[in-house]
Amino acid sequence: MTIDGEEDLAALRRIGKVVALARDAMLAEAKAGVSTLELDEVGRDVMKAHKARSAPKLAYKFPGFTCISVNEDLAHGIPSKKRLRDGDLVNIDVSAELDGYWADTGASTAVGDVSPRVEELLEVTKKAQLDAMSQARAGKPLNIVGQVVEKHAKRHGFRIIETLGGHGVGRFIHEDPHVPNHFIRREKKPLWEGLVLTIEPFLTMSATEVFELDDGWTLRTVDGCLGAQFEHTFVVMNGAPIVLT
Ligand code: CO
Ligand code: CO
Repeated sequence: MTIDGEEDLAALRRIGKVVALARDAMLAEAKAGVSTLELDEVGRDVMKAHKARSAPKLAYKFPGFTCISVNEDLAHGIPSKKRLRDGDLVNIDVSAELDGYWADTGASTAVGDVSPRVEELLEVTKKAQLDAMSQARAGKPLNIVGQVVEKHAKRHGFRIIETLGGHGVGRFIHEDPHVPNHFIRREKKPLWEGLVLTIEPFLTMSATEVFELDDGWTLRTVDGCLGAQFEHTFVVMNGAPIVLT
């Protein structure tokens, strides 16, 4: 959506804050011994307390309140009784609706100790997200996002999942435009002030594709490698973005 006045911005800030609170509460509980179902309940409770509704449930009948993906599973993981273990890499993606406004956020974190290379993957993915978001300003082409994400990935020898990307958001969970995480030369359409977007790079050790498991949801890297994702919802501005999550 494109913001039309202060009312839109205030409503988006409200739902942005809810998903950010849920994300952070879940990240704080992502420890060895905790099941992903228990983590999902933490997110559910935050949404409930603020009268927000789970976006994946509402929009797609997803079998969980949030998406929780462990290790080679990168996105749309279904919360289950499986417990987290030391050394796991877990991604938490929270999106929700309140009063007709939608917001979307995500983050990856390590459970206990992981290798320096996995720490680097987390750091670089987070940095790529922040850098791309700060450069996605009004008048810049849409492919600035892919250009920036690619620069970070290449510099550190990581790959990008090319079939997953950011998106418009605000009046629904997934709106136009799709925001590719790799550089596509022809995607030159300029961004405009007030446009509400997510940027969510998925960086991996080696894979550039994912496949869907038989459960009909979970997206796993084709070669079983690890990956990470960070995501924020923000408003495109002439200057610095307004980050809502
Ligand atoms: Co998203
Ligand atoms: Co998301």
